[in-house]
Amino acid sequence: MTYSHAQLRQHIARLPRYPLAHLPTPLEFVPRFSKAVGGPRIFIKRDDCTGLACGGNKARHNEFLMGDALHKQSDILVWGAGVQSNNCRQTAAACAKAGLDCHLILGRGGPANGPDVVQGNLLLDQLVGAYIDIVDDMIGPELNRRIAEQAAKYQAAGRRPYMWDPDVVKPLAAISYALCLSEVLEQSTELGIDPAAMYVSSAGSTGAGLALGKGALGYLGIVRNIAPIEWPWDTRADLAATANQAAKLIGIDTQLETSEIDITFDYIPPGYGEASAGCLEAISLLARTEGILLDPIYTGKAMAGLIHDIRGGRFDRDASVVLIHTGGTPALFAYADVLAEGIPKRKLA
Ligand SMILES: Cc1ncc(COP(=O)(O)O)c(C=O)c1O
Repeated sequence: MTYSHAQLRQHIARLPRYPLAHLPTPLEFVPRFSKAVGGPRIFIKRDDCTGLACGGNKARHNEFLMGDALHKQSDILVWGAGVQSNNCRQTAAACAKAGLDCHLILGRGGPANGPDVVQGNLLLDQLVGAYIDIVDDMIGPELNRRIAEQAAKYQAAGRRPYMWDPDVVKPLAAISYALCLSEVLEQSTELGIDPAAMYVSSAGSTGAGLALGKGALGYLGIVRNIAPIEWPWDTRADLAATANQAAKLIGIDTQLETSEIDITFDYIPPGYGEASAGCLEAISLLARTEGILLDPIYTGKAMAGLIHDIRGGRFDRDASVVLIHTGGTPALFAYADVLAEGIPKRKLA
């Protein structure tokens, strides 16, 4: 069955939730950019404006994760990812607000403009008071093992760490993006548009939640994930499984098949965390036509995917499409060299 917006909200209201995000975020028409890419009417869902230490999708995710952590009476959270992780920055900020200690284990393995440059997300992690360990690992099993070991150490010492159990954390985070899809659809109705598609940078909970929202609310448009990273597992199946677990958590009967997840890995090259030419073009074009900032790792690539599909004729000129802007703004400063070189200064005639 499909659910109304109010019914979906009611089901989700059963879960503990800690308010962190500035909601609803605006759904903004970008006419100069739409014209510049020769496209349909493009709208941007401004989740870069969720607040919480410079915005992004993890403000929504963390409303449910912090709700769960507080419900379980946790007093510390051990978290980790890359040195320039937006996730860690917003999670550390959420901990600060909720009164939990935060221990971040950040992997320098991977392009992040030098791990020891205290800039961008790493700077903000420090400012919001996270305890930070920088290790040589890449994001993946080795880093996850270290995080679990550290949490176990805190537990042995009598602390109450919030355990990073993917079966709990991923679906909880996804629920917040089922709500986001509902928000976009309600705003679209107010604006008198019917989006043909929504594009997002995701290979995880964000995309899983949007897919769940699409299924639960019966949205007939495209929800397309532009993957920023290729995980060592079947991402499509993982997103469907996460959406299905999330549905169970909130007590709705929506269940998705793997084939219902629309995801492309085409925009990852030259690699996770490395800006492509299309990404740099997207960042430059949106900044110079609308004054809106994309980031070089996630949203720039999502927009590059949307531009590519528009130029390939996927959408009618009078259609409306939405880019869900998931944030990442602080990484701009950590990638200053790449951006300054890849996006030349504008010269006036
Ligand atoms: C700015 C930004 N966009 C998108 C994503 C992808 O989110 P998810 O892992 O929920 O798919 C991330 C993940 O860290 C991110 O930082």
